[in-house]
Amino acid sequence: MKITVINGTEKHGVTYRMKEIFLEEFRNDAEITEYYLPKDCPGFCCGCTQCFREQQHLCKDAEYVQRIEKSLLEADLLVFTSPAYVFHTTGAMKAMLDHFGYRWMPHRPAKEMFGKRAVIITQCLGSGGKSTAKDIKDSLSWWGVTEIKVISFKLMSEIDWNKIEEKKKADFQKKLSKIAKKMHAIDYTKPAHTGLGTRFKFYAVRMLQTSLGKQNPEYTDYKYWKANGWIDKVRPWK
Ligand SMILES: Cc1cc2nc3c(=O)[nH]c(=O)nc-3n(C[C@H](O)[C@H](O)[C@H](O)COP(=O)(O)O)c2cc1C
Repeated sequence: MKITVINGTEKHGVTYRMKEIFLEEFRNDAEITEYYLPKDCPGFCCGCTQCFREQQHLCKDAEYVQRIEKSLLEADLLVFTSPAYVFHTTGAMKAMLDHFGYRWMPHRPAKEMFGKRAVIITQCLGSGGKSTAKDIKDSLSWWGVTEIKVISFKLMSEIDWNKIEEKKKADFQKKLSKIAKKMHAIDYTKPAHTGLGTRFKFYAVRMLQTSLGKQNPEYTDYKYWKANGWIDKVRPWK
């Protein structure tokens, strides 16, 4: 199986250690590709909207964005990690997610995303881990990913991995390994079930695109939906 990991920080700190514990379960039989932000996607979206106009290759950061996209589309399991920075995901992660605005369902979602599984690992000192995960989950769910597992930790007192007490580290290890084992046992030849939330989003956008297409059949997003057969009977899930 293939795993693509997007690390919201380059630091080899607590987030990194937690991700390493999670991946341990997969090391023997998975092909793991990791990206570290901001290094692997250093530019901010400048709002040129080329990507929305079906010219994502003209984005000034296309070289970085398209490399990550290819890897995300090929993976069986997506892993996103981030510490909470002022209650939210890191600026680096947000900057990368902005580049994928054109893959949100109201625009041109990739059919490969439907049926994919994802894990989001966040941690914080005391508060903000959940809202950090939500920042990432918002994008994944609007990309069409249905099965998204969130693992969030509160460190409470110490944020230096080397100073965190052993009992606490053992608790983190236990929880992460348990979820990793469950995720490892999945048969990835079968797509994840596309749940009601994703289907609801899809049908709402389909109505919108149908109406936009009546006004202007040359509208980029409408043409994409039409070409995929989604305005008709085809669906991106199996
Ligand atoms: C800029 C910055 C902002 C942070 N904001 C929060 C926060 O809002 N809530 C919180 O509980 N911890 C916060 N933290 C702590 C981090 O979430 C995290 O626990 C800490 O940076 C250790 O993780 P790391 O070693 O992976 O960087 C913040 C840390 C930094 C550097």
